[in-house]
Amino acid sequence: MKKILFVCLGNICRSPMAEAVMKKIVSLNNADNDFEISSCGLISYHQGENPDPRMISAAKDNGYTLKHLARAITQHDFEYYDLIIGMDSSNIKRLNSLSPAEKKYKIKIISEYFPDGTPFDSVPDPYYGNMNDFYSVISLLEKACNNIFLHEKNNDN
Ligand code: 4NP
Repeated sequence: MKKILFVCLGNICRSPMAEAVMKKIVSLNNADNDFEISSCGLISYHQGENPDPRMISAAKDNGYTLKHLARAITQHDFEYYDLIIGMDSSNIKRLNSLSPAEKKYKIKIISEYFPDGTPFDSVPDPYYGNMNDFYSVISLLEKACNNIFLHEKNNDN
């Protein structure tokens, strides 16, 4: 069982979308028993909220239903999850400052899983952007999550 936590700032745009994309890949590969997937944010401002309506709409256009309710990361998450994947370098900085030293090895930036030649070094925050930015989030997450699945399915470490 591999437990993966996707993390962004608010947990209403990028990380709930990542959670839905990863769950679909896992399910299509009949690997539901091998993975536990969730998401959270670094701020509690949106605690308990549904994802942003623009993310819900872009998700729907791409065949995904978002069900997650926002929550902020806790110390327990650093113990419980095997892999903690942040969306940009600012997320990674905050994760590293919150994590116990001996759990920092679990923290990765999602761009580590982008295919070679991807012209991004993060999944950019779409919150102050337009709908194209939300569609771009999904496209980047689909590429990254396929590679996360390929990398983790045979990796028991
Ligand atoms: P997310 O987007 O980190 O992808 O969920 C954001 C959502 C809310 C805020 C910032 C980014 N905010 O400042 O409230």
